[in-house]
Amino acid sequence: MNDKELLESPLKIIDPSKQGQVYEDRKANEGASKHYYIESYGCAMNFSDSEIVASILADNGYASTKDMNEADLILVNTCSIREKAEETVRNRLQVYQSVKRKKKGLLVGVLGCMAERLKSKFLEQEKLVDIVLGPDAYRDLPRLIANAQGGERGINVLLSREETYADIAPVRLDNNGISGFISIMRGCDNMCSFCVVPFTRGRERSRDPFTIVSEADMMSAQGYKEITLLGQNVDSYKWENPETGKVVSFAELLIMVAKVNPRIRIRFSTSHPKDINEDVMYAIRDYDNICNYIHLPIQSGSSRVLELMNRTYTREWYQDKVKKIYEIIPDCAISSDIICGFCTETEEDHKETLSIIEESNFVLSYMYYYSERPGTLAARKYEDDVPYETKKRRLAEVIKVQAAVSYRDNEKDLGKTFEVLIEGDSKKSNQHFKGRNSQYKMVVFPKKEGLKPGDFAHVKIDKITSGTLLGNLVEPA
Ligand code: SAH
Ligand code: SF4
Ligand code: F3S
Repeated sequence: MNDKELLESPLKIIDPSKQGQVYEDRKANEGASKHYYIESYGCAMNFSDSEIVASILADNGYASTKDMNEADLILVNTCSIREKAEETVRNRLQVYQSVKRKKKGLLVGVLGCMAERLKSKFLEQEKLVDIVLGPDAYRDLPRLIANAQGGERGINVLLSREETYADIAPVRLDNNGISGFISIMRGCDNMCSFCVVPFTRGRERSRDPFTIVSEADMMSAQGYKEITLLGQNVDSYKWENPETGKVVSFAELLIMVAKVNPRIRIRFSTSHPKDINEDVMYAIRDYDNICNYIHLPIQSGSSRVLELMNRTYTREWYQDKVKKIYEIIPDCAISSDIICGFCTETEEDHKETLSIIEESNFVLSYMYYYSERPGTLAARKYEDDVPYETKKRRLAEVIKVQAAVSYRDNEKDLGKTFEVLIEGDSKKSNQHFKGRNSQYKMVVFPKKEGLKPGDFAHVKIDKITSGTLLGNLVEPA
């Protein structure tokens, strides 16, 4: 990952290079007369939502296309997390505009977080947009399309306390058929002062675990090898059975999904330091197919800044959680998100962020500089007073320290053998495969006949960089 990608990537599990990825339905809706084109930005939740939208469109006779010139409907699933994310979408709208000029009747729809944040302003500001649809309103898409075909531009940005799209089987838009997402909850009830998500995604609600397990079952039957359970704060997953009153916790859900097929790897994201508990750690320890990897964003190493951020934990609380994780799962990898230059951040605070990266031994971090979001608590209460140049310099220092810590951690893997799920050709050579180990580290190794993406391989590491482990195939021990 280069610095530019790090700055722009607003997410965890989605590879930054996939931002704006155009997805295509793997099972084309043959014979369909209408085509949609969808681009997705933002976090994994958005990418997963695009699959719900694809399912709704398939039921309404639409097939997907990767060529926007061929489309009758262009959709963009948007992100508001930082100003840059919104700028990217505005630039894309220019591109759609030029296609629309050439094709009469072509509709453009804006979905996701930016639609929710800007609401009807979007229709006022962007004349080419026909449909504006928030994350809880996707079931209304067919109606809005019909209206737009009749010349009426439409909007639905109602947020819901119940909607989880539990009954909609997503059309898998990922292009490898190996790793897929399952959304287990929606919304967020935390009020981190910098964050726009509670405004764009609404209240937290958990999805019926039985529909989650049946989706995992279906993915198992389709040959998937890795499932990532998604939520803004997975550790607060909580579902009460309306008949028995029994409550299913996140640790219990994790085990239910892990039991679907012991050969499918299970991952999850994102964990919140205030909510992750020992039951989750024991589940990781006790089930081989639950990966030894926790994404546990700290945001800042300074307790004073954490308080302003309303993260509801201190540096010491975070350190205790990390200690517990390494105690229970010694080979667990922990990664983080970090924001540099939040309101009032001093050099001292910044140094505390640098030192917590070292102490916690993060294998990787997604690092950003603070971008004020309208309407958030921080925008209303605090001044965005760290100069841009200082933010950038601090971010560069954070990136540098993280790279050194990653390198040091990778060094410990020299000589070790890992089970790797093969994802495809490595970026640099079609003679090499790339894949990830349980700790989510990228592993690259020379191909061997008979092995293909989706297979598991055992690789012994003999070279490293700060971002990759390199090695050769060995027989499983
Ligand atoms: N629910 C997740 C985070 C979702 S947003 C969690 O609580 O960890 C992903 C990341 O974007 C956040 O962890 C944060 O590091 C970053 N982020 C959110 N708002 C931001 C802002 N206003 N400026 C810069 N980075 C931000
Ligand atoms: Fe945003 Fe905080 Fe919720 Fe994460 S936990 S989505 S950072 S409000
Ligand atoms: Fe962006 Fe919305 Fe996700 S703001 S990070 S797409 S929840």
